[in-house]
Amino acid sequence: MKPLTSRQLKQLYLRFFKEKGHAIIPSASLVPENDPTVLFTTAGMHPLVPFLLGQPHPLGRRLANAQKCIRTQDIDEVGDETHTTFFEMMGNWSLGDYFKDEAIGMSHEFLLSKDWLDLDPERLSVTCFVGDGDAPKDEEAAGIWMKLGVPKERIAFLPKKDNWWGPAGSTGPCGPDTEMFYWTPNDIPAPKVFDPKDKRWVEIWNDVFLQYNKNKEGRYEPLRMRNVDTGLGLERVTMILQGKTNIFDIESFKPVIEKIVSLSGQGITEGNRRSFRIIADHMRAATFILGDEKGIAPSNVDQGYILRRYIRRCVRHGRLLGIEEDFCRDVAGIVIDIHKGDYPELEKNKQFVLTELDKEENRFKETLDAGIGFFNKIADGKRAVSGKDAFLLFQSHGFPVEMTKELMQEKGLQISASFDKEFDEEFQRHQELSRLATEKKFKSGLADTQMETIKLHTATHLLHAALKKVLGPDVNQKGSNITVERLRFDFSYDKKVTPEQLKQVEDMVNEAIRKKMTVIREEMTIEEAKAEGATALFAGKYGEKVSVYSAGDFSKEVCTGPHVGNTGELGHFRILKEESVAAGIRRIKAIVAPEPEQKYMSH
Ligand code: ALA
Repeated sequence: MKPLTSRQLKQLYLRFFKEKGHAIIPSASLVPENDPTVLFTTAGMHPLVPFLLGQPHPLGRRLANAQKCIRTQDIDEVGDETHTTFFEMMGNWSLGDYFKDEAIGMSHEFLLSKDWLDLDPERLSVTCFVGDGDAPKDEEAAGIWMKLGVPKERIAFLPKKDNWWGPAGSTGPCGPDTEMFYWTPNDIPAPKVFDPKDKRWVEIWNDVFLQYNKNKEGRYEPLRMRNVDTGLGLERVTMILQGKTNIFDIESFKPVIEKIVSLSGQGITEGNRRSFRIIADHMRAATFILGDEKGIAPSNVDQGYILRRYIRRCVRHGRLLGIEEDFCRDVAGIVIDIHKGDYPELEKNKQFVLTELDKEENRFKETLDAGIGFFNKIADGKRAVSGKDAFLLFQSHGFPVEMTKELMQEKGLQISASFDKEFDEEFQRHQELSRLATEKKFKSGLADTQMETIKLHTATHLLHAALKKVLGPDVNQKGSNITVERLRFDFSYDKKVTPEQLKQVEDMVNEAIRKKMTVIREEMTIEEAKAEGATALFAGKYGEKVSVYSAGDFSKEVCTGPHVGNTGELGHFRILKEESVAAGIRRIKAIVAPEPEQKYMSH
């Protein structure tokens, strides 16, 4: 075993594969080129997909590199001994050149040979694919390991969930793999029989045999040429070489952790360790994303959203550690110093990295306390934290939904089955508004479009009330959709609405508008609202406070708003269409427009 630094290990790996005839290629960007299937490069094979699918690579059929990767799906594991969202992956590839025999042979040699890493063969185990309807059991890979001296008890066969790799996105090259595990405790001898569920066995390298392409229909088509794709976790193998049992203790992480320790003025304890590790990992990820040539900045979509999540989570965990002053730039500065030798883009984009971190940190600090206060108020009250609350926290306080869930977990609160759905529905409702608003922005100004939808919302209440008056109290809302142009209202009624009835409804709404009724909002419990005869579409929880909007004595509904202040603002109400949408459900489309007279008057 050689106590190498991560940089030395990287160089040794590349030298080994160079000697085996591989061309060394640079790390690609963290943001995939022209690939909408993933947000970040998740493995070294990712930028090589066109070549794995058959396009000739200019540097030949044997390639190797170190690739910066981000795996957001590992975020919940960050804080344990071996997981990070950002990491460096060492990889070697055969593009239709060598296959299982040689690939496994080289992995074995690099790990165990005295000339290379000289790891202890007593501490090595492997897994192979057990086989299923898509591909057979990988006896071939297991046989190769046994020939190299790995005992049978140290080989486990596992299903696709464990021993299959790819595609990196929803389609692309994939196939069975064989993974190498190392026994990490230095003071306990490795058990003779390998138990892949024992976390002390840590996965260090994966050799994937890309024999299939998963197509859009989800079928596995055999690839014309068989490829090898491997990935060795740089931080994990460094940890083993340095005799450590967690990756945060290796030389390229330690200064980052130490910086956070000194900023917090506290030592690491069982209770706060996770926060230190989360900040160290997320700040490294954020620094690499911001420092990438693609110029990604925090935002509410795609890569920008992940970046925002990382930074905001750091800020909150910084708060948990008692760090009051701005700290992101200090931590990022250390990350840049450690990695700029291998990734010069970090130094080149340093100003951008630090400025964006500062901005995001300060932006979030403005709303963090209020958001925590809001959260605690709900969480300490009687009612559950809903997806809708999470949306409010997101919209008003900038809490990524994942942060709200984390807060809930910390308080031991249940996340209900409908939580995500509620959040998504709320999010989409607002997305629709903001997308329409953006589309219309250059035509009429943002304020105007919002005003239009608010008017249509109040008109919907008047329509609902009028329908009940004309068609009977059993009429109930089944759906409502508002765009800048029109309202759409679905309601329960099992007959066609006659033209006379429609005219009556239209006239009634226009009468309510003409009367210029004040629209008022009151807060009361759901029981009080019902007792007052308010239309309440959703059965709220007992004692829950709700908003009730009423227009004179014409309409009264439980609703979150917003609405106009006076019905007189609506203009002329006109029904465009009435039709059936499903058994027992009718649909009305309607508009509000300025009175024709007013139009002429303005000339
Ligand atoms: N692409 C394979 C992995 O990421 C090597 O594990």
